[in-house]
Amino acid sequence: LPVEPFDLVIFGGTGDLAVRKLLPAMYHRFIDGQILPKSRIIGVAREGLDDASYRAQVRTAVEKGVSHVAPAQLDAFIEMIGYRSLDARKADGWDEFATLMGDRPDHIRVFYLSTSPDIFTDICQRLASLGLNGEGSRVVLEKPIGRDLQSANAINDAVAQVFTESQTYRIDHYLGKETVQNLLALRFGNALFEPLWNAQHIDHVQITVAETVGVGHRAGYYDRAGALRDMVQNHILQLLCMLAMEPPSSLSPDAVRDEKLKVLRSLRPINGSNAAQLTVRGQYRAGAAEGQGVPGYSDELGSDQSRTETFVALKAEIGNWRWAGVPFYLRTGKRLPNRVSEIVVTFRALPHSIFDPASGALMPNRLTLRLQPDEGVKLWLTIKHPGPGGLRLRHVPLDMSFAAAFGVEQPDAYERLILDVVRGNPTLFMRRDEVEAAWNWAGPILDAWEASGDTPKPYTAGTWGPSAAVALIERDGRTWAEDAA
Ligand code: BG6
Repeated sequence: LPVEPFDLVIFGGTGDLAVRKLLPAMYHRFIDGQILPKSRIIGVAREGLDDASYRAQVRTAVEKGVSHVAPAQLDAFIEMIGYRSLDARKADGWDEFATLMGDRPDHIRVFYLSTSPDIFTDICQRLASLGLNGEGSRVVLEKPIGRDLQSANAINDAVAQVFTESQTYRIDHYLGKETVQNLLALRFGNALFEPLWNAQHIDHVQITVAETVGVGHRAGYYDRAGALRDMVQNHILQLLCMLAMEPPSSLSPDAVRDEKLKVLRSLRPINGSNAAQLTVRGQYRAGAAEGQGVPGYSDELGSDQSRTETFVALKAEIGNWRWAGVPFYLRTGKRLPNRVSEIVVTFRALPHSIFDPASGALMPNRLTLRLQPDEGVKLWLTIKHPGPGGLRLRHVPLDMSFAAAFGVEQPDAYERLILDVVRGNPTLFMRRDEVEAAWNWAGPILDAWEASGDTPKPYTAGTWGPSAAVALIERDGRTWAEDAA
């Protein structure tokens, strides 16, 4: 069903995210008939472009980012696009911008702040001074929302002076991924898993988000962030919440977010007293990616003084009744061997074996949720190997691939999320208290690393991080699941 006509204003409209992700996402929703041509998409940035040259940029971006482009539909989509050159720190041009927006306080306007967070406050104040924060207005905040609790609070406080919490959408694009939402369907749409979803039956959980790319031209941003801020504090903690939360009473936005918040607040603290045992940091050196030689992080950054981690592995625990004593091993990094995001839930070993040891090893059941690429679900079971020759046991997966089962391309996360903003549904966005709870947990880890004076351990690009990451899990008598490898 189409959503009602809206204006989407993308601040940072010429930036990488807008061009590579947001505009192609809007094109997809447009050709599916969800966006009516009366809607408008307006790019805003400092560059002195006009509508025509911005439209040409958008056309190229869509042609590059979308697999099948229908020329007539692309022309109709481009018709909806406009551009304004504005500087949030200067008054010029803002009155004309207000005229363009028109005096329609109920009209749905989405202000997407895809800029550096330093100017979020300036943009919000400009919008307020022009009366553009009325009923129908919504603001979307791209990450990073701060680099610690204090700076996150400063951003949230400044935005809150202009927009109410219900008008504020803090985006975490992992929540828009089909397979992440599938976690809700899998856990709460099947009677099979929930009775087993606890410390009595689950031995441990692994979450891997591995990338083959390096930091490339993002080194400037990345060096101030690092893997914990860039991936763990937001995306990976959100995955952990979806996996570990109590069943919400409904899918209403606050029912879901209340449950996620409880998980974040139950995370066992990692700080100066235990960070050395529970965390591993790495930084890639020159090596190979997808068969090509690639430079190290310090070469890309142009400095070998950086202590920023491009890899992190850690052992988290959720201190509540359901999960007491169940380790959650989390790892993410750049320049790893494969691009793969996956959650592996390993169930406990059987209490007793009735089989002859010669039948083969009894392996614990495992549920593997492949988030990307090759999205799918695998449930590993033990069965009898067919044929004569006695009872030989085999460990095999019940294997569901989304592509094979449904044959459709997975929509990009931003397609779903931007339309959720238009519809006014914040379920898949982070509430302020979630962001705070996530920083409350991540902050002491960063502080402990800073205080230790240690440098991240080197790893060769194209390997699974420093060997200490393997030791982190092997110390507990477990191994990283080989599916990801
Ligand atoms: C972004 C991070 O939020 O997520 C990037 O800033 C990372 O460093 C990206 O590459 C990963 O997203 P995806 O959707 O490609 O897994």
